Amino acid sequence: MIPDKAPGEDVYQATCDLRKEAHVPSFEKYKELYLKSVENPEEFWGDVAKDFFWKSKHTGQFLDYNFDVTKGKVYIKCMEGAITNICYNVLDRNVHDKKMGDKVAFFWEGNEPGDELKVTYRELLKQVCKMANVLKSLGVKKGDRISIYMPMVVELVVAMLACARIGAVHSIVFAGFSAESLCERILDSQCSLLITADGFYRGDKLINLKMIADDALEKCTEKNFSVQKCIMLKHLSKDGSLLPEGSQSPPAKRACSDLQVPWNPEVDLCWHTLMEEASDECEPEWCQSEDPLFILYTSGSTGKPKGVLHTVSGYMLYTASTFKYVFDHQPDDVYWCTADIGWITGHSYITYGPLANGATSVLFEGLPTYPDVSRMWEIVDKYQVTKFYTAPTAIRLLMKYGSGPVQKFTRRSLKVLGTVGEPINPEAWLWYYNVVGEKRCPVVDTFWQTETGGHVLTPLPAATPMKPGSAAFPFFGVVPAILNESGEELEGPNEGYLVFKQPWPGVMRTVYGNHERFETTYFKKFPGYYVTGDGCRRDKDGYLWITGRIDDMLNVSGHLLSTAEVESALVEHEAVAEAAVVSHPHPVKGESLYCFITLKDGFDYTISLEAQLKKQVREKIGAIATPDYMQNAPGLPKTRSGKIMRRVLRKIARNERDLGDVSTLADCTVIEQLFQNRCNTA
Ligand code: PRX
Repeated sequence: MIPDKAPGEDVYQATCDLRKEAHVPSFEKYKELYLKSVENPEEFWGDVAKDFFWKSKHTGQFLDYNFDVTKGKVYIKCMEGAITNICYNVLDRNVHDKKMGDKVAFFWEGNEPGDELKVTYRELLKQVCKMANVLKSLGVKKGDRISIYMPMVVELVVAMLACARIGAVHSIVFAGFSAESLCERILDSQCSLLITADGFYRGDKLINLKMIADDALEKCTEKNFSVQKCIMLKHLSKDGSLLPEGSQSPPAKRACSDLQVPWNPEVDLCWHTLMEEASDECEPEWCQSEDPLFILYTSGSTGKPKGVLHTVSGYMLYTASTFKYVFDHQPDDVYWCTADIGWITGHSYITYGPLANGATSVLFEGLPTYPDVSRMWEIVDKYQVTKFYTAPTAIRLLMKYGSGPVQKFTRRSLKVLGTVGEPINPEAWLWYYNVVGEKRCPVVDTFWQTETGGHVLTPLPAATPMKPGSAAFPFFGVVPAILNESGEELEGPNEGYLVFKQPWPGVMRTVYGNHERFETTYFKKFPGYYVTGDGCRRDKDGYLWITGRIDDMLNVSGHLLSTAEVESALVEHEAVAEAAVVSHPHPVKGESLYCFITLKDGFDYTISLEAQLKKQVREKIGAIATPDYMQNAPGLPKTRSGKIMRRVLRKIARNERDLGDVSTLADCTVIEQLFQNRCNTA
């Protein structure tokens, strides 16, 4: 499956300097390690595990699993019998065993230039212990679910690791999500406590986070579920330093007179007061390997988000080793991942993977365009960032402004560049490689999912010759295959469904509270395989190219959305009888939402109605789901059995007249009308 020899033509290679220090310096070495990882996982992962602390060792086989629904329940167990704590491994082990207490864990860079903070491993450990004690004092126990809804501040990392320390299960909700989305997630995992902040700025825009959080809690109460306590961090409204050693993020320098902080004394607690009183020592709760670590919601094709569940040991080993090898982590690196911790990229590659390796990271609160489009490169120079990880959408956005803003800064420290979240088009890849990295930094195009826990297809920077736009080859322990519609494995150059044949330590274990949905979504279509939902092409050299989602999901700026969840937000409006949402290509966001709206009798399609519908989607889901295009659709193309033909709608949205086979259409006349009402998408 992996070629014996890497191709030497039409590829980009790492420099000799990078190879000299690399963990995996050649393609041959990658291949050797890869073979070991799939032929002898016990030995391969056993070597990785040696670097961690285990209260007791595992007893059974390293990985025990069933991927075949026809043979019984699907399960994955890694290192059964082992006992450990992930927080202990990413903090105490670094501070005490590795003597790295004074090493910087995070350089926090606020939204406003000049807002900054440095946190060492020792300080982080203290803060985490304090928060862990706070949670315990509030009655939180192992296995309890805690919802976290916070901006990109160090305290977000503190909150998540405090949960991990006491065996509580964190469920982080991206702070860009709406009250409704937060409520839905709190209800699904029955979270007893919410941790949030007063508010934050995203560029120029003030987000009154506590108000949204309160709204969510009210919605929960209406649905007969009460969150017992809400801890609120004062991020913008801080009234002086309550904690010692400057170990909390400083007040934002920006004036925030519009900040509104509702306060309910029966539920609300102040982060700072609680922390002041708490002890900074806390014995970790020792966990079983397969104890749950966190739940993270991702869009599901039925419209209801799925609570992806990850467990302790496998996730720890997998995020640690992917971080080490994919970014070729070295002790003096300064690493920066621009993702938000509210997404899986932040969980795995801001918190757990980097900290497990004792890395120094930049934690950035702001936007790539604020206060100007040089901000990223300014930060790279400021902290001498060596490894940089971002999304194709950010690259395409900055590319629009040309090389000038990039070249205002030297970026001399950069060694490896990474991308994640969606397919990267070769133009964007080449701009990233040529302009940002000045042809000196390999680009690792990492394909993975919330469900996979960590990278599954990716080049290794010094080992894999790169092809712009290809995620190249599998990471250690991962065995991909391409299947045709009948479920047959396709060899050689081919295209089809991307699946995986066996588990790796970091793969999800279940959909929280709904194992049947887990089996149906990932294992029923092709029994024996984990089905990613993505299409994939293999070229003549064995390189894998992700071709995009092949289900009813869209990828907007690297964020997955299901057409069903946007449709259900639209039809909740009193004027809407039916809605159909399809993907439309977008030069920066990759994909955008194009919505067809059928109104109920008696309602008129107006600009003001469109604005109301957009607002409704924003309020129900969040700003990322705001439709780009919306058109009046007095009729929708349907089959005789009443199914909407989205394939046809996609073509109409793109103004492509070649509709393919439409013989199953119940009423052809709607088509011409839809073409006439098309939005101008040029
Ligand atoms: O379609 C693939 C796309 O993002 C999906 C996973 O989204 P999510 O669970 O939100 O996680 C995103 C961050 C890991 C995938 O099914 N995707 C992610 N990375 C890539 C990608 N598509 C192509 N190339 C990538 N490098």
